[in-house]
Amino acid sequence: MSTLTYSSPFPPSFVFGVAAAAAQIEGAAFTDGKGESIWDRFCRVPGKVAGGDTLDVACDHYNRFDDDFALMASLGVKHYRLSIAWPRIYPQGDGPVNKNGINFYRRLLASMARHGITPWVTLFHWDLPQALEDRGGWTSRVTVNAFARYADTVVKEFGALVKNWITLNEIRCFTLLAYGLGSKAPGRREGKAVVNQTCHHALLAHGHAVRAVREFGGPGTRVGLTDNCDVSVPVTETPDDIAAAQAWFLDKNEHILGAIHGGGYSPAYLARTGVDAPQVQPGDFDLISQPTDFLGLNIYTATYVRSGEGGEPYEALALPASYPRADSPWLNLVPQAIYWAARMCHELYGHRSIYVTENGCGYDEERVVGGEVVDLHRRDFLRNHLRELHRAIADGIPVDGYFLWSFVDNYEWEDGYGRRFGIVHCDYETLERTPKLSARYYADVVRTRTIL
Ligand code: NOJ
Repeated sequence: MSTLTYSSPFPPSFVFGVAAAAAQIEGAAFTDGKGESIWDRFCRVPGKVAGGDTLDVACDHYNRFDDDFALMASLGVKHYRLSIAWPRIYPQGDGPVNKNGINFYRRLLASMARHGITPWVTLFHWDLPQALEDRGGWTSRVTVNAFARYADTVVKEFGALVKNWITLNEIRCFTLLAYGLGSKAPGRREGKAVVNQTCHHALLAHGHAVRAVREFGGPGTRVGLTDNCDVSVPVTETPDDIAAAQAWFLDKNEHILGAIHGGGYSPAYLARTGVDAPQVQPGDFDLISQPTDFLGLNIYTATYVRSGEGGEPYEALALPASYPRADSPWLNLVPQAIYWAARMCHELYGHRSIYVTENGCGYDEERVVGGEVVDLHRRDFLRNHLRELHRAIADGIPVDGYFLWSFVDNYEWEDGYGRRFGIVHCDYETLERTPKLSARYYADVVRTRTIL
């Protein structure tokens, strides 16, 4: 146990950062040889994205990154989680490399270095090259092999500048939601067998990224997955409800975290999926289950779980309509999620270094009035979550960092630009940035390393 008390500062080595992703902020969707991504295609399908918003301009970070890093630095933020757009590097997914894309990220990383900001780079944050989707996308091993080559290239090119690598962002979202429910690009509605196979291919891609970082990353490099695990919060913090929440957590996460840590799919998972179980080839899990240096967790919401009755291991509770939530309808405000996600991953899978790689909240009506955006709702979200994070550290759970989603309002996928997650406001007419009240608050937290 640490000696942290309620008001003590976060440990000196604790990392405070902000996060964003290429497709959501860069714009320049067809500039300097970038290829079409599945989101560039999907956003043009009528009815798929709110307001028909496209990624063409986004926050124009492509042309404004220098100013954005100056603003980040002025807030005292020294760590930034970004992603690299695969279609900028390989416009066709696996054809010729696009030197302009490489040069762009070189300039961007150099600017970060000038501003004293450490990069945490995600290799894949959902913007699959459309050319690969045309060959089957994540349903096919063609995509896995292309990703392996892309990961090799990126780590070789940028390994001298980047020491913290994240393999993939939120496997569930680009497999289940993209190929099963169809709400995210490419918007397919396949059966369970196909969806389970996309997830297996994503695990393989994760394994290739770990391999690439080990082979080409150079000294001092670290790598981990960012997972949006399904999080359970015990209704009461009693041994029975905690045990129930643990059993639920293991069940819901068995196909990703469970499989990676178990070295294969569990007998329970294989029995449950039956004929829909993924096809596994010899050697797959040698790649998938390589040790990593940390686990990244994107934490937004949770399910309340209590001990079951009549021999059931648990009961998951449906939330009443009046339970508080953000404007994102899926985002119920459960700050304990951050504590329990970290604790479960530490206790159930033995993780010894955990980073919250995203945490934030989406709201619709945020306007600049008199030069400021008074987003007290986001300030409170942040404060409540940091409090639970602090509790985790005090309880000896190895959480080593926190990245707030997001630095600036951006393209919230199928919700378009109307749903804002930034601590910096973006005016999409003028592209002007205005730090919100939450940005000032976060700057104070980062500076004092204390929850104010
Ligand atoms: C998780 C995703 O990684 C990110 O791209 C998205 O904008 C946030 N959640 C908010 O929904």
